[in-house]
Amino acid sequence: MTDSELGGLIARRIALTGPISLADFMAEALGHPRLGYYRHATPVGAAGDFTTAPEISQMFGELLGAWLADRWLAMGQPTPVRLVELGPGRGTLMADALRATRGVPGFHAAIDLHLVDTNEPLRAAQRDALQGFAPGIVPTWHERFDTVPEGPLLLVANEFFDALPVRQFHRAPHGWVERMVGIDESGALRLALAPGVTPFAKLLPEAAVDAEAEICEAGRALAASIGARIARDGGWAVIIDYGGENAGRAASLQAVRNHQGAGILDRPGETDLSAHVDFEALAKASGVASFGPIGQGAFLRQLGIIERGEALKRRASPQQARTIDAASVRLIAPDQMGTLFRVLALGDGKSAPPAGFSDHPTSSNLPPDAT
Ligand SMILES: C[S@@+](CC[C@H](N)C(=O)[O-])C[C@H]1O[C@@H](n2cnc3c(N)ncnc32)[C@H](O)[C@@H]1O
Repeated sequence: MTDSELGGLIARRIALTGPISLADFMAEALGHPRLGYYRHATPVGAAGDFTTAPEISQMFGELLGAWLADRWLAMGQPTPVRLVELGPGRGTLMADALRATRGVPGFHAAIDLHLVDTNEPLRAAQRDALQGFAPGIVPTWHERFDTVPEGPLLLVANEFFDALPVRQFHRAPHGWVERMVGIDESGALRLALAPGVTPFAKLLPEAAVDAEAEICEAGRALAASIGARIARDGGWAVIIDYGGENAGRAASLQAVRNHQGAGILDRPGETDLSAHVDFEALAKASGVASFGPIGQGAFLRQLGIIERGEALKRRASPQQARTIDAASVRLIAPDQMGTLFRVLALGDGKSAPPAGFSDHPTSSNLPPDAT
């Protein structure tokens, strides 16, 4: 018994070939070509399953636009520059970023825009959102980052890495064992620990004190790919997502449907799945200079969200002013998105350090010759 068409397909596969890893399950549930959640669903916004920072306020995309334009200037204004967004959702962040940077001389003329998204309905929304904001900037869509043409890079990813598949491990008396997805006697999907040691479990540190571990191989591989591009062609990337210092050392995979928590195995293809992002692992995998991770609240404050809010309120009705204040609080307050969400920048280490990270100036993998 399974509760969605995709759940039935996954259960049949398991019946034929045996249990699959949680990462394989997540890849199918989100990415199955016809039935995967991120192939057909329009999840973002009040009518979807969850909301995101760019949908809360235009200030989020505007400030990131200013950050990206500053990085372009710091890089020496390369033309063209590949401006890439991973998982643009409804296109709101990029539309706000482009609108806010129209006045930066030469920036829009230099931009070659690339959007990485697997979701056709969202691609259509992105096309609509971007029309008119930046005449002459015509996006190219990609299924994967790897097909973005070479050249100097500016990359932004908000709530993208949390959707990449993770493996989970539990520490048993005999060592690390991987959490798998199997089926029970009735044919329903069930979580179960692998009876023996799987190859990946061998890679985990024996001496670890934690009871759980979570690894996002796809995230690390993508960070390595972005880092290689930056090292070769120059550039900057800014990654915003949720994930605290404990990420990677706890089982964080969660499911959301209609703005409410759901079971991880419930209705595959109709339920969002996401896991806390292990920023330290991404920074290490990138192999380039990294800045942060810093809390989203501290980052946005340093970029001037308070001042931007005040400027918007000068032209706003009392009701609009209240909405602007509420949005600011939601984005930066420590008990809302201000500390759970964090920001990591990856860069070429040659240009001046980026704005927004002054509490965490550099990480240990800043190249020795960088200033
Ligand atoms: C949680 S939404 C975030 C949307 C947007 N960045 C925002 O902040 O509103 C994730 C986005 O990434 C896309 N996506 C998820 N997994 C993907 C994958 N493996 N490859 C390409 N795009 C993916 C989704 O279609 C969606 O646009």
